[in-house]
Amino acid sequence: MIKFINPSIEKPYIQFQSLYQEALANEQKGIEAISVSSYNQEMNEVEARYVNLKYIADNEWIFFSNYNSPKAEQFESHSQVSALIFWSSINTQIRIKARIFKTSVEFSDKHFEGRTKEKNALAISSNQSQTIDSFDEVKKNFHQTLNEMTPDTVRPDFWGGFSFIPYYFEFWQGHKNRLNKRCVFEQRDDEWIERLLQP
Ligand SMILES: Cc1cc2nc3c(=O)[nH]c(=O)nc-3n(C[C@H](O)[C@H](O)[C@H](O)COP(=O)(O)O)c2cc1C
Repeated sequence: MIKFINPSIEKPYIQFQSLYQEALANEQKGIEAISVSSYNQEMNEVEARYVNLKYIADNEWIFFSNYNSPKAEQFESHSQVSALIFWSSINTQIRIKARIFKTSVEFSDKHFEGRTKEKNALAISSNQSQTIDSFDEVKKNFHQTLNEMTPDTVRPDFWGGFSFIPYYFEFWQGHKNRLNKRCVFEQRDDEWIERLLQP
């Protein structure tokens, strides 16, 4: 589930929430999953991966990750990202272009405090995306961290939220007859310009 905090009443946000409710009602699996693509400057490559969208707070879309991971380095050097959702239960794709930055320390702390001990042990024990000799080593690091954790264990600096603020949305709603509806919202000078695209 995505948590909405003080949700924006701007038109693309209203449309997003309405589609979200429809997908929920249709028991969409993995409803939080969103693909976020980033640009790897060193390799001159674009990379994509799924993350779980946990909050939409005002106009910030928030997920959590490791701040030393490849994606984090890429967001740092190139803050423009594209994000993508497909909800099969309602045959809807949502394309987003956005700017990304680290979520506030306070927000990350609060989210960390609300997670299970196991999830936090994994966040602490994993050097995300680094090569490791065996999966046994992953398990050993995890269990060791879990045993060492106390109620005073706090969020490590290398783990926290990423917020992205969209400036472009495309809502694609598919139809059996291929008369697919595509509606774009583009932000210009604090105003959302709405237009339709051919299928
Ligand atoms: C459905 C789904 C949700 C995921 N959610 C997250 C997430 O919220 N945070 C995260 O760091 N990785 C998440 N992952 C793992 C990422 O896709 C990715 O493997 C990992 O973050 C490393 O990415 P990087 O090497 O590009 O930094 C998820 C994977 C899947 C399939």
